Amino acid sequence: MEWKNNILNTFPWGKSISRREEKEIIAGKIASLANDGDVVGVGSGSTSYLALLALAKRMKEDGIRIKAIPTSLEITIACVQLGIPVASLMEYKPDWAFDGADEIDGHLSLIKGRGGAMFKEKLLINSSPRTYIIADSSKMVSRLGSNFPVPVEVFPQALTCVGQALNELSPREVSLRMAGGKDGPVITENGNLILDVWFDEIPGTMEHAIKSVTGVIESGLFIGYDVEVLINP
Ligand code: A5P
Repeated sequence: MEWKNNILNTFPWGKSISRREEKEIIAGKIASLANDGDVVGVGSGSTSYLALLALAKRMKEDGIRIKAIPTSLEITIACVQLGIPVASLMEYKPDWAFDGADEIDGHLSLIKGRGGAMFKEKLLINSSPRTYIIADSSKMVSRLGSNFPVPVEVFPQALTCVGQALNELSPREVSLRMAGGKDGPVITENGNLILDVWFDEIPGTMEHAIKSVTGVIESGLFIGYDVEVLINP
């Protein structure tokens, strides 16, 4: 049985989408990769959302059936709106996945997590045999950390001791990410807090150094992952 007048269908995509034409071209490329029966991991952000729209179009026009494993509530709601069946990593290993990025360097290392979903995004990338990182050209940087901080998801009770441990990694600045639509800090989908950490330099060991601090759930650093980057132009 279906819900009548499902309130979810009244929610628009949250923000205006920058560089939409560029992103739509990549979205079309992603949709063309889908085969009937695929279980596809879906990352977060506007580029992933546009790729999801393009996939929904292929399902409608070409009759292919796919299941999506979403990495955020925002993308889960979009799947429901588009009639794309949702699955989880508990039930399925994805056939392939796609996700956006906030920064990409020349070695294809990434900063992710502007949307606060880096924990599930990393779980997905680690679970998928192939992941496409989709982004517009503004995301390419010569040095990771140029435009974005490294987001670190922290168990709330551990905030003070994690903050102290992160300070030993010589950051330029550490700040608690504050919410936009509520008072106080951002609370992640896992009930945690986010520290945004600016570094002047990010050596290859940094991801492991951050992750080894007790109280850190995950960081948005993805150094040396096996990903394929699709950039437009
Ligand atoms: C979400 O947590 C991030 O890792 C996103 O993948 C990133 O913010 C990409 O967003 P856009 O596609 O909107 O640039």
